[in-house]
Amino acid sequence: MLFDSHAHLDDPRFGTDREQVINEARKSGVLRIINVGAGIESSLSSLELARKHDFIFSSCGVHPHEASSYNDEIEGKLREIARDGNTVAIGETGLDYYYDNSPRETQKTVFARQIRLAGELSLPLIIHCRDAHKDCLDLLKSEKADSQTGVFHCYSGSAEMVRDIVGMGFYVSFTGVVTFKNARKTIEAVKAIPSDRLLVETDCPYMPPEPMRGKRNVPEYIKYTAAKLAEIQGRDYEEMCGIFWDNTHRLFSRLPKDTVMVK
Ligand code: NI
Repeated sequence: MLFDSHAHLDDPRFGTDREQVINEARKSGVLRIINVGAGIESSLSSLELARKHDFIFSSCGVHPHEASSYNDEIEGKLREIARDGNTVAIGETGLDYYYDNSPRETQKTVFARQIRLAGELSLPLIIHCRDAHKDCLDLLKSEKADSQTGVFHCYSGSAEMVRDIVGMGFYVSFTGVVTFKNARKTIEAVKAIPSDRLLVETDCPYMPPEPMRGKRNVPEYIKYTAAKLAEIQGRDYEEMCGIFWDNTHRLFSRLPKDTVMVK
C-alpha cells in the first residue's frame, strides 16, 4: 500500500501509454497518487486526471521556472482550480537558483503570493526548492499563516536545514535520488527526519531510482525508493509504507480519510 505523493503523469512522455502506466501503478500497490501541477496548463491536466481516476488527486501551482508568467489572471485561475475537491494542495511553487529560469526577485514575489494563496484557501504547499533553502525558509517564515504547512519535495538540502523545516511544522519528501551511490548528503538528511514527517514520491517521469536509472520513471518504481528510506530509517518495509500513507493523509487534509480507494 503505497502513496506516490508527487507525480507528473500528464507529462508528454506518457502520451502514448498513460492509462496503462496508471493501471500498472494500481496493480503494483500504488493506491493513491497526487499529480502535481507546475503551471496553469499542467494544473488543469492534473485536475482532469484526478476527475477521471478515483485514486488520483491533484495540485495546482506555478513552478519557479515559470514565475515570470505569473499575474493576477493566473492567480485567479489557480483559485478556481483549487475550489475543486480533487485539488489537495498549492504547488509546486518555490525557488530554483540552480536553473534561474526566472529572475530571483520575481521567483520570490511569486512564491510569496502562492504562500498567501495557500493560506487563504487553507491548503498545504508543495515546495520545489533548489539551491535556495535559506530564502525559501525566510519567505515561509514571513509569509505563512500560523497553522500553514506543506512539503519540501525532492529534498536536496542539508540535514541541518531539515531541523528548521521540521521545526516549522513542514514535511520532507524524497525521490529516487536517495538510492543513488553518491547520495550521502541526502541519506544524512533522511536520518535527521522524524518518521512522522517523511514522505515518498517518484516525481515521475523524472528521477528514476536505482536499478531503473536512465529509464522513464513510473509510479510503480516508488517501491525502490520506499525500501531505501525504510532501510535508512531502520524500519520494516511494510511498517514504513504505512507511515508514508498516514503522513501523506495527515498533510493533505482534503484527502478522504477512509482506506477504501473510492472517492
Ligand atoms: Ni515535480
